Amino acid sequence: MRILVTGGAGFIGSEYVRQRLSADPAARITVLDKLTYSGVEANLAPVAGHPGYTFVRGDICDPDVVGEVMADHDAVVHFAAESHVDRSIEGAGPFVRTNVLGTQVLLDAAVRHRVGRFLHVSTDEVYGSISEGSWTEEWPLSPNSPYSASKSGADLLALAYHRTHGLDVVVTRCTNNYGPYQFPEKVIPLFITNLIDGRTVPLYGDGRNIRDWLHVSDHCRAIDLVLHGGRAGEVYNVGGGTEVSNHKLTGLLLDAVGAGWDRVSYVADRKGHDLRYSLDDSKIREHLGYAPQVSFADGLAATVAWYREHRSWWEPLKARAAL
Ligand SMILES: NC(=O)c1ccc[n+]([C@@H]2O[C@H](COP(=O)([O-])OP(=O)(O)OC[C@H]3O[C@@H](n4cnc5c(N)ncnc54)[C@H](O)[C@@H]3O)[C@@H](O)[C@H]2O)c1
Repeated sequence: MRILVTGGAGFIGSEYVRQRLSADPAARITVLDKLTYSGVEANLAPVAGHPGYTFVRGDICDPDVVGEVMADHDAVVHFAAESHVDRSIEGAGPFVRTNVLGTQVLLDAAVRHRVGRFLHVSTDEVYGSISEGSWTEEWPLSPNSPYSASKSGADLLALAYHRTHGLDVVVTRCTNNYGPYQFPEKVIPLFITNLIDGRTVPLYGDGRNIRDWLHVSDHCRAIDLVLHGGRAGEVYNVGGGTEVSNHKLTGLLLDAVGAGWDRVSYVADRKGHDLRYSLDDSKIREHLGYAPQVSFADGLAATVAWYREHRSWWEPLKARAAL
């Protein structure tokens, strides 16, 4: 199977490509990535010598580039997106362009080239916020940020292409990811790298917002299960099973680097900040045998260690993004 991976130079996409290529000498993957501020080609250096690996720098919104690259691929795994909620609050334009328009351009090309399977990587943020209980895949979409609204548009477009054009689409809606190679604007790597550097960390509001954390390697294993075993036209929630408030997460990260609460600065809450995310992921567990393998304690310790050991990776990224 020849797979086109969009956004493969980003945090989750690069994990997926490294995971698949290192597991299978016969795998064939083309990465299509624009290399925006969050895309780093060096994230793929560990597998750059694999004979089945090809990298194409290009924009998913460009129909010519997408049409050319799509030819001869059996499947698409679509990660490329503008992904940071705070940036979408500052300006929604790039989010609507890449996440909605870019997805439509890819879907059209996939129909034209009769691609056998299109896996759209969506997010649990499309459901909005839930104070009690957990979302199943049937829950109505009720996004609150421009990021999650643009991802909802893409998610619904992908499902509509299944119903309208018969394209073999599967959608995954995953919870918050953490792990190595995450761009240091996101909360876990931002806090770790600030603390390593003796700086303070900005905690939104009172820190009571709850997120369900999943190690990025588990998310990518789930994506591969859905790619090969998911049913066409279906959505699969991918949960972590580790619901933690931002306050508790901050405490864990302070402990991990041996710092105290004096290093926390409380900042005004994010506009429209979702209070809690919680997924019911029994469908992927029961139908496809999914189960996370990395405990939050082990994964977080390994992530802190990775950022300690990879200053040369994150320091220039933080300087460039003025973080
Ligand atoms: N990070 C999470 O916790 C999380 C959770 C659930 C779902 N997701 C989804 O997973 C996907 C990947 O997220 P991530 O955290 O790895 O994001 P990221 O920002 O680290 O990576 C995004 C990648 O997409 C590329 N890209 C952006 N615009 C492009 C364009 N127009 N054309 C081609 N490439 C482009 C970037 O260069 C980058 O390599 C996104 O679709 C996101 O919505 C993320």
